[in-house]
Amino acid sequence: MTPQKKLLGEELEAQHQRIETMAQMVRDASGEEREQAFLALRRYLAAHEAVEQSVMHPTFRALGRDDGAADARVGEEDAAAEAVAALEELDVDGDEFTRDFEAFAQDVHDHAEREEHDELPSFASRMSDEDADEIVAALRQVESIAGAEALSAGAGAARFADMLEAARAEFDQRWDAVSH
Ligand SMILES: [Fe+2]
Ligand SMILES: [Fe+2]
Repeated sequence: MTPQKKLLGEELEAQHQRIETMAQMVRDASGEEREQAFLALRRYLAAHEAVEQSVMHPTFRALGRDDGAADARVGEEDAAAEAVAALEELDVDGDEFTRDFEAFAQDVHDHAEREEHDELPSFASRMSDEDADEIVAALRQVESIAGAEALSAGAGAARFADMLEAARAEFDQRWDAVSH
């Protein structure tokens, strides 16, 4: 394992840990505080998945001999987006939200585990250090994309689907500026 690939594993893991922490904050809060914690989680998750879908999964897929791991992960991300859309319809203090949020958080956790322990290892030997560097550089945009004005309700991103779209557009802009 080269330092570049090791760094990619660490960056991915750190972001997944961040998502876990944010999900825990939703569990621990109620009322307006829970609304805000759920919003922060959605913004971060939208930025994280948008960057993975823009660079990480396509890079792995392009390495050839795809065993389906990248496609399976994107399928899980689509399912998570649907689960978030359903949660957005619920009262955050209701039993239904608490129950469905738990199922969603578990799915997100399992998805992250598969990215770290199935998808990444299955491509690690085939990817170049440059590929790893590029994915790390892309993932490092996540934090600032999550905080971007474009992902706010005021900018028209009130729902997760809008946040995802705004995150993709934000990423494309930044990526063009930094690397191409
Ligand atoms: Fe993902
Ligand atoms: Fe991920």
